[in-house]
Amino acid sequence: MTVKIVYATRYGSTRQISEWIAERLEAEGFAVRLENAENSEGAEGYDLVLLGSGIYNHGFLKELEDYIEKHSQSLMQTNTALFGIAMKTEPIMHKGKSHGGILMLEKYAQKLGDSVIGCGMLHGQMIFSAMSEKDRKGIEQFYKMIGMPEAEAAERKKPRTLMDKRECWEFACGIIEKINRAKVRQ
Ligand SMILES: Cc1cc2nc3c(=O)[nH]c(=O)nc-3n(C[C@H](O)[C@H](O)[C@H](O)COP(=O)(O)O)c2cc1C
Repeated sequence: MTVKIVYATRYGSTRQISEWIAERLEAEGFAVRLENAENSEGAEGYDLVLLGSGIYNHGFLKELEDYIEKHSQSLMQTNTALFGIAMKTEPIMHKGKSHGGILMLEKYAQKLGDSVIGCGMLHGQMIFSAMSEKDRKGIEQFYKMIGMPEAEAAERKKPRTLMDKRECWEFACGIIEKINRAKVRQ
């Protein structure tokens, strides 16, 4: 079985996570290619395409959104799975409605319809000092907007990683189970 992982990343965590997912898929006998969304072709010739991006302001990076838009036809003819890399992976309840977490992937899943066999949110990391000035300012503004106390904001600006290889391997195993089930159905 051939798998392609198409990723979009700004600071490298999604690339690292894609490598961990690939490692597990390869160990289970899959042939895996890893490609940046900016220079990846369509889904032709692959049994499964995994699409993953760092989450920025509740959505994928534009590079992966553009990729999905451009290649939706070929993606819909194979099996796909989506993963988002974020600091907060669980949905939150606000004013009686759920937001965030896996719900952020819904709009992409809707675009790809029945081809989607799985979706997951995995933990990323933030290294404030390595970010662009624009991103640093954006984050600072966000902390102010939600009224985060100064001390907590300072703590949050320390390098923070929640990346977890075991979580990534569990996601890979879940996808393997689903692709095997999808195969039986065909
Ligand atoms: C400007 C900015 C906006 C972000 N927005 C979100 C967000 O809406 N939700 C979230 O959980 N994490 C958010 N993050 C955290 C990133 O998803 C996290 O750092 C991820 O690991 C980035 O992946 P990458 O290194 O592959 O680009 C944001 C980070 C930055 C710098």
